[in-house]
Amino acid sequence: MNIQDISNKNYFVFDAFGTLFKTSEVKAELTQIAGEKTDNLINVWRNKQLQYTWLRNEMNRYQPFSTVTRDALDYSMRLNGITDEKVFDILLPLYDTPQLIEGAKDLLKTLKEKDKTVAILSNGTRSMLDNGVQLTGIQYYVDHILSVDDIGIYKPQPAVYQMALEKLEATTAELLFFSSNQWDVSGASNFGLDACWINQYGETKEGLPFGNMVETGSLRELTSSFL
Ligand code: LAC
Repeated sequence: MNIQDISNKNYFVFDAFGTLFKTSEVKAELTQIAGEKTDNLINVWRNKQLQYTWLRNEMNRYQPFSTVTRDALDYSMRLNGITDEKVFDILLPLYDTPQLIEGAKDLLKTLKEKDKTVAILSNGTRSMLDNGVQLTGIQYYVDHILSVDDIGIYKPQPAVYQMALEKLEATTAELLFFSSNQWDVSGASNFGLDACWINQYGETKEGLPFGNMVETGSLRELTSSFL
């Protein structure tokens, strides 16, 4: 598969956090509390949040992403010796009221103009995803919001990617899955979906198994491949 082939697909399914929505933002009020530990606080938080979803999958102990996200932040604060509870109020809105990554709206708008079906498939809770879609004004461009909350299992379990096929009533030949998270691209492409890795953070390729995958450098670059 190459980047030109992707415009022949009909169903465009996007991961949410890190792909369309921001997962970090350093605000002055956070730096005032966390000082030089700010970056570590945010990085450990995101890594632990993901790790907790995978471990909960292994243990069959699902809790919604809102709980896991809070637990991970609580851990990262303790690790970094930060006790000020205001940090929860500053950082949790990144997930509760998500903000778009630059270029996301243009991409989704372009896909709708090409009459594509656009969906979000995320570990986020329904309320996180509904809020994000409404507050950022992309509700006109997103046809389906699919949350793992409906099945109580996190990505990259195959059942999640299967849910997308079933809910969209699509075949694997018609669908393309997009994520900036490499483990998610690995999960989707091993399940059998064609996948696009949006490498918008300039990451080194992980030593994970990848199936049918194409790589692009940014949301803008992706948009231009449809124009
Ligand atoms: C999601 C997380 C994993 O939106 O980024 O599914």
